[in-house]
Amino acid sequence: MSKLSIIASKLVESGKGILAIDESTGTCKNRFDALDIPFTEEKRRQYRELLVTTPNIEESISGYILFDETIRQSNEVGESFADILKSKGIAVGIKVDQGKVDCPEGENGEHLTIGLDGLDARLKEYKELGAEFAKWRAAIYISDVMPTNTCLDQNMEALADYAVICQKNGIVPIIEPEIVMSGKHTINQCYGASSRALSKLFSKLESKGAELEGLLLKTNMILPGKESGQQVSDEVIAEQTMKCFKENVPTQVAGIVFLSGGQTPKQSADRLNMINKMFGGKPWTISFSYGRGIQQPALNAWADEAKTDEQSQQELQKAAKNCSLASEGKL
Ligand code: G3H
Repeated sequence: MSKLSIIASKLVESGKGILAIDESTGTCKNRFDALDIPFTEEKRRQYRELLVTTPNIEESISGYILFDETIRQSNEVGESFADILKSKGIAVGIKVDQGKVDCPEGENGEHLTIGLDGLDARLKEYKELGAEFAKWRAAIYISDVMPTNTCLDQNMEALADYAVICQKNGIVPIIEPEIVMSGKHTINQCYGASSRALSKLFSKLESKGAELEGLLLKTNMILPGKESGQQVSDEVIAEQTMKCFKENVPTQVAGIVFLSGGQTPKQSADRLNMINKMFGGKPWTISFSYGRGIQQPALNAWADEAKTDEQSQQELQKAAKNCSLASEGKL
């Protein structure tokens, strides 16, 4: 096994998954504002410290994805968050894309994720800071005219280039094409857009010579749009999601992890559980790389002055444990 495939397989080892705490400053502001949490660098540091120091979280979590600000931060006595995680046997990951611009020649509202300029040098620095894996997210929207082939092509090309640069630096890339859940689209439209994105992505990865065993796919479940009004059972979501993967994802890929993407923590865990119950983690290990799907109850508790930090950490443990059980279909 190559070094990359060892790191990638460990991230999806039995009963474990990834916790994403890599919200950019703007996204973190939205989350804090929604709960009236003062938005300062120190408050962000305190919240991330609480997440990083949660006791026994390593029983459910194999890796944390950090943001540039967070990988440089430390606890109150100066121990870096990266070192704290490593001392628990948790791998350190880093978000390396640098946000989005309007997609050139795409439809109004389509975005292209950027960040390839200077990526090689940034990865070298992140490696020094302790990172073993990275993440890049491309957000794809559905409407009657979206996603366009142009937008898909440009985003999947950038994702594949990012993957190859990571692997050259000995960093495992998490490749995240996200078909965004907000919208009125049906589950069939989500299936179609996901299928187009994944088939384009893997044909680019293969033509650029990426090592499939040394990367993880992070993506959405096949779901109806949040504003569609369509009701679909967890069984149908599981079937459609696995059908889409089987048609488009090579079996050599080290593992597939989901984003929560606006599902509640319960939906995120229940649907992951159903997928693993019905398909037994075959042919890939299927796990989680949730942000809100694990963090939200802990953040809600942290915003509540009547609750202690320990209570917030218990919320994090509980949500992570549910996802851990779901990753084996045992919830
Ligand atoms: O890129 C997306 C995040 O890492 C996962 O966030 O689970 O809240 O969608 P989410």
